Amino acid sequence: MRVKTGIPGLDELIREGIPKGNLILLSGKCGTGKTTFSMQYIIKGITDYGEPGVFVSFERKPEVLYEEMKSFGWHLETLEKQGSLELLGGPLDSIVKFGKKVGAKEEDMIEEIIEVVREKKAGRLVLDGLGQFSMMFPDKLAFRSSLASLQQKLNKLGCTSIFTSEIEEGKEGLSRLGVEEFIADGVIILYYEGDGLTRTRALEIRKMRGTEHSNYLSFFEIAEEGIKIVKPGEGAYLEKEPKKSEEKKEATSLEQAEKAAEHIVTQHVQEKVRSLMIESSDIKKIGEIPVFKISGTVEYIAKPSGFLRHGVTEKRFWTVQIDARNGRVLMCRMQP
Ligand SMILES: Nc1ncnc2c1ncn2[C@@H]1O[C@H](COP(=O)(O)OP(=O)(O)OP(=O)(O)O)[C@@H](O)[C@H]1O
Ligand SMILES: [Mg+2]
Repeated sequence: MRVKTGIPGLDELIREGIPKGNLILLSGKCGTGKTTFSMQYIIKGITDYGEPGVFVSFERKPEVLYEEMKSFGWHLETLEKQGSLELLGGPLDSIVKFGKKVGAKEEDMIEEIIEVVREKKAGRLVLDGLGQFSMMFPDKLAFRSSLASLQQKLNKLGCTSIFTSEIEEGKEGLSRLGVEEFIADGVIILYYEGDGLTRTRALEIRKMRGTEHSNYLSFFEIAEEGIKIVKPGEGAYLEKEPKKSEEKKEATSLEQAEKAAEHIVTQHVQEKVRSLMIESSDIKKIGEIPVFKISGTVEYIAKPSGFLRHGVTEKRFWTVQIDARNGRVLMCRMQP
């Protein structure tokens, strides 16, 4: 059975959703969207799929989350009152203080999480801030074995979970301690890279046990209604699912990438193209993935003129991003 992520466009990339009972590690640097992504998974689980959810934060108090999530139209307090959601935790220092006061240990905390999941009959659990969570354990080994036992218990309960982990700036690796990814059944990495105005959000599915998944970088947006995958320029996307044998056909040169970009833009516009300019092109890295970023302007006849009708010529700015490993067009965006 599959569990829908609640992120529009993502389930298609992992063959209909996350296998039930699996644990997904969601990692990324700060501000990449981990909290938003994982909260959306819980909220949509409740509102769209009727599955109660538990969200454990090691960063924020519930009151702060209530406020922050209102901007996406998610009313956590109401869902908590209705009984379909439970928020646990809070800032690390207050948890540690409380733990000391009552003489609680790490295992008690894990037991408490399991108890709430069981009580709520929760189908979904999020643990936001594994890095902070790990600080409560005496060493890596203790953390790893507790994580493994937590996962086993969740799996038995049929609870599908997302644990978030921060990747520190300038560091390699998929998670903070480098142990989480071995415990997880799946790993999704979030990126927010580029410079200034041209930063791009993208995600990569690094591993997903028990299912086929996309091997490509996918772009996403954080907008008013939450996170959604940006389709590579609807309609301009030529090869939907290239055959396996064709995947790594060519290591694209910048020149080839520019040709592909021109092609995709003219297809996208469809109307008669008057001029097409490439104004900038370069190669950048999103995580480990080299990407050609090409942009320019296109002028085209949006409405032809007749004897009486006035024709309309439009000019638009476009950006195309191409995976430099295989020439695949990842995104084509046109600005009005
Ligand atoms: N309502 C909104 N509309 C559009 N973008 C938003 C909205 N709310 C937040 N964002 C964007 O999402 C980003 C942060 O997302 P989020 O808090 O989920 O990231 P994170 O990876 O959890 O960060 P951290 O490492 O600090 O925990 C913000 O920096 C902002 O750019
Ligand atoms: Mg966060």
